Amino acid sequence: MSLIALDGVACRHGSRTVLSGISLDIDAGEFVTVIGPSGSGKTTLLRLINGLATPSAGQVRVRGQDLATADLVALRRTVGYVIQEAGLFPHLTVQGNIGYVPSLQGARPAELRQRVHELLDVVRLEPALLTRYPHQLSGGQRQRVGIARALAARPDIMLMDEPFGAVDEITRAALQAEIRQIHARTGVTIVFVTHDIHEALTLGTRVLVLHQGRVAQFGTPQQLLRHPATEDVAALVRTALQKTGLPA
Ligand SMILES: Nc1ncnc2c1ncn2[C@@H]1O[C@H](COP(=O)(O)OP(=O)(O)O)[C@@H](O)[C@H]1O
Ligand SMILES: [Mg+2]
Repeated sequence: MSLIALDGVACRHGSRTVLSGISLDIDAGEFVTVIGPSGSGKTTLLRLINGLATPSAGQVRVRGQDLATADLVALRRTVGYVIQEAGLFPHLTVQGNIGYVPSLQGARPAELRQRVHELLDVVRLEPALLTRYPHQLSGGQRQRVGIARALAARPDIMLMDEPFGAVDEITRAALQAEIRQIHARTGVTIVFVTHDIHEALTLGTRVLVLHQGRVAQFGTPQQLLRHPATEDVAALVRTALQKTGLPA
């Protein structure tokens, strides 16, 4: 059984069809990157997986359970969500942000401190930052706190929406290395939206290409590089090859 399954899914905003005919399966432990032009439905796809958006047709299942009838509050406890600019609580310190969910879940103070320190280590942040507020951090540090906060509930799925879109190139490379390690170490299943084809091809074990609300291709980086399914995918891959000199 796949961990995440979309079956003939369509999604509308008002009269506008944003996604249609989406059928795909994601297995436990995959690192799926999602790429497509602005407005192609990437964010909507993530929101369907944590029940923030509702399909107008078809079915979304997580662990075999149809989200139309699932307990969404319970679901979201097992699904971490990281967005661009991290979406931190501005009035909470780093400690408060990372410890937010564990404290809601009733963690004792000692347990909470230990968990927060473990997570700081995972995302490589200095404990000295614990008392700072989000506005006192760099963009890269905020993203790390956002990742730590999402990992705090020990999710088995992480949904990440252009998480590194707003940081400089060097910070981005460091964050990419971190998330790759987190994936390898924890086995968490990741669905990661990006508009950077190089990022999509280097991080993803599979890459989902969306175009105008439909799946243009869903395959391994090798499959995209060697056998692009459409002219749009071929063009996308060419830009990655030109930029990086990756061998085709
Ligand atoms: N809440 C909403 N109400 C109306 N239209 C929306 C809403 N959210 C997204 N859309 C529209 O749906 C389309 C896809 O949006 P989105 O999933 O955010 O695309 P992406 O993340 O790929 O840029 C866009 O045309 C966007 O304007
Ligand atoms: Mg988006």
